[in-house]
Amino acid sequence: TTRNVAVIVGSPRKESLNRKVAQALIGIAPTNLKLTIIDIADLPHFSQDWEADPPQNVIDFRARIKPADAVLFVTPEYNRSVPGVLKNAIDIASRPYGEGVWLGKPGAIISASPGPTGGFGAAHHLRQVAAAVGLAILPQPEVYLGGVDKLIDDAGKLDERSEKFLGKFLAAFAQWIDRNAQT
Ligand code: FNR
Repeated sequence: TTRNVAVIVGSPRKESLNRKVAQALIGIAPTNLKLTIIDIADLPHFSQDWEADPPQNVIDFRARIKPADAVLFVTPEYNRSVPGVLKNAIDIASRPYGEGVWLGKPGAIISASPGPTGGFGAAHHLRQVAAAVGLAILPQPEVYLGGVDKLIDDAGKLDERSEKFLGKFLAAFAQWIDRNAQT
């Protein structure tokens, strides 16, 4: 079975290293994983004021996540935590109460940074948030890509070692999706 994976990049930056990693993953994913990047940069700041009548792009975002078999986060670390733009997107699709689209989906987290700690703090804060919205996050392998600017070239190609490691990660994620799939 082909599994559709919604990929959410935690950086809105055009030249985002995390986006480049996400794009590289699309190229090396096993044939049964179809990875699609879902954009979050243009989402409005969440407000409960519009819960009854949300903006169209909010409706569209929820509708894109809902049918996905799984979710993959690829995120930088901002000040040792999850970038606000990513937390905002998760909050948006967690509401209205009881109708959150994350609930029960298998998921996985990759964090990446040019710095040495590879976004560890963001990844673990994200695990906490993911638990709150009912995502079943792949426990292992854990993926913190330190020095990521050195791991990917200008053409968006990963070095051999990273490609091998991320290939293993994707294979483990595919198994995790099969074990935890809702359909
Ligand atoms: C950062 N950066 C950063 N890096 C890190 O390893 N730990 C951190 O806590 C932070 N904090 C932080 C805060 C803010 C507001 C910014 C803008 C940046 C640096 C960050 O890892 C770097 O800019 C990455 O390149 C951002 O990811 P993208 O946009 O390349 O995917």
